Amino acid sequence: ASTLKQGAEANGRYFGVSASVNTLNNSAAANLVATQFDMLTPENEMKWDTVESSRGSFNFGPGDQIVAFATAHNMRVRGHNLVWHSQLPGWVSSLPLSQVQSAMESHITAEVTHYKGKIYAWDVVNEPFDDSGNLRTDVFYQAMGAGYIADALRTAHAADPNAKLYLNDYNIEGINAKSDAMYNLIKQLKSQGVPIDGVGFESHFIVGQVPSTLQQNMQRFADLGVDVAITELDDRMPTPPSQQNLNQQATDDANVVKACLAVARCVGITQWDVSDADSWVPGTFSGQGAATMFDSNLQPKPAFTAVLNALSAS
Ligand code: G3I
Repeated sequence: ASTLKQGAEANGRYFGVSASVNTLNNSAAANLVATQFDMLTPENEMKWDTVESSRGSFNFGPGDQIVAFATAHNMRVRGHNLVWHSQLPGWVSSLPLSQVQSAMESHITAEVTHYKGKIYAWDVVNEPFDDSGNLRTDVFYQAMGAGYIADALRTAHAADPNAKLYLNDYNIEGINAKSDAMYNLIKQLKSQGVPIDGVGFESHFIVGQVPSTLQQNMQRFADLGVDVAITELDDRMPTPPSQQNLNQQATDDANVVKACLAVARCVGITQWDVSDADSWVPGTFSGQGAATMFDSNLQPKPAFTAVLNALSAS
């Protein structure tokens, strides 16, 4: 294989990327996306604060641009996301708690209906857990208790029965208290007949620190009867990057690919952001970056070659 998507497809997987409309307006970045990837996640364009910044008034324009790009380049789309404590417009958190459920259901129904038939998988609830593995006590939890998650999934399923429905979170890649909590939640939802199709492992890693239990952890979720996916892969390091760290990143990313290929229900891998030029990392972690497989000039890094080799090995 000479591209990530060819390598992934030869293994019955996809290789995706997240991008913003702004990034796709850069023709070199757009060309890289279209050449290398077969799944697209909107970086921000389908989040609540963009889609419904005031109650009942919907703006699907930016998300539609992402879908149009994907369609034009034979890519599928991961919808990201419907319910999240972050990038939530102020009007939602200011509602009387008695109105939060209807606002959430209306938001989900409107967005999923708008994109019906165009979305491979939705991140229905994003990042429901805090770092100790307790459900976040956000406005949805305050209004509905833990049942908001099942309610969100059922509402999304009613609007598009063919879209795969995911819960997505970070720091659940290895076996730990937080992934145990997600595991128990998925197990409970399955036993209650709630429509849940998959778990997204964000995979925002630090160089040299990919959890050794990644494969084992994904497998235990798959054994519950759900798909699993690497949804937001990146691997950050101090900048400017040393050659040693770039080589370690190559090992790390290849190990992530190998873990996914070893789990039959791992459906694919998505890198978060197109290149080191548009990565979210430097803006959030000062002095860190170089987290993607392409440098700031969109040139492939050692990680790209290692990932391609890992995809070609089986
Ligand atoms: O839209 C405003 C713009 O009007 C303003 O001029 C500008 C000034 O800073 O900010 C713009 O909003 C920014 C938005 O991205 C769009 O660019 C926000 O400040 C910024 O916080 C926001 O960051 C996004 C972040 O999610 C928010 O939590 C990142 O782009 C995006 O990559 C990141 O993605 C998340 C996933 O959704 C969930 N998992 C973690 C991942 C990384 O944090």
